[in-house]
Amino acid sequence: MSTLPRSTLALGIILVAVAVLISLPFPFFSRQWHIFMHILGAILFIGNIVITAVWMILAVRTGQRPVVHFSARVVNQADVLFTIPGVLLILLNGLHLAPAYGSGDILGASWVQAALGLLILSGAVWAGFLLRYQNRLVRLSASGAQLSDEFLAVFRNWGIWGGIATVLPIISLILMVFKPRLWG
Ligand code: HEM
Repeated sequence: MSTLPRSTLALGIILVAVAVLISLPFPFFSRQWHIFMHILGAILFIGNIVITAVWMILAVRTGQRPVVHFSARVVNQADVLFTIPGVLLILLNGLHLAPAYGSGDILGASWVQAALGLLILSGAVWAGFLLRYQNRLVRLSASGAQLSDEFLAVFRNWGIWGGIATVLPIISLILMVFKPRLWG
């Protein structure tokens, strides 16, 4: 986050506040509203992590350090503007919708338990690995004639952990649509 412009941080805070406000269980928000917001969150979250990965790979393939530096910075900014509000929309609206499938209990349905676990795991991978790697990619591409071996090593690790963090929510998406009884 240390590599983020202030304007992005400010806009990110506004978007987080909006995401929370439009997800609160106000009586004038219908169930359809919460389903819509939940799905909107899924589109923002999964869409952003897939597209930023492709964007970054294409940038690195140009071999042009300034292009890569710009892309690495934009990946961080996109996380603040899309990933974080998207996850909030998924989580807050999902928690509101879940009791209908668990006899009144938020964690009553096994597919909801699994999706929540996977979302938390994905967040842990992002906070524990990806964020650190992304900040290093920004710093390592900031100067020099070409990309260093250290940059390429960090980029490989970012790709591995990014792949894991992408597969987890895609499994959640499958669980959401098929709603299988996994246990219990
Ligand atoms: C990355 C994680 C997630 C994604 C991508 C996702 C996506 C979706 C999508 C696309 C639907 C619509 C499916 C359909 O109606 O056939 C849905 C429904 C639902 N989701 Fe999620 N979801 C995620 C996580 C969660 C979590 C963590 C919870 C609970 C805490 C949750 C609770 C629900 C519930 C209860 C429904 C059914 C809504 C209804 O039709 O009444 N979801 N989800």
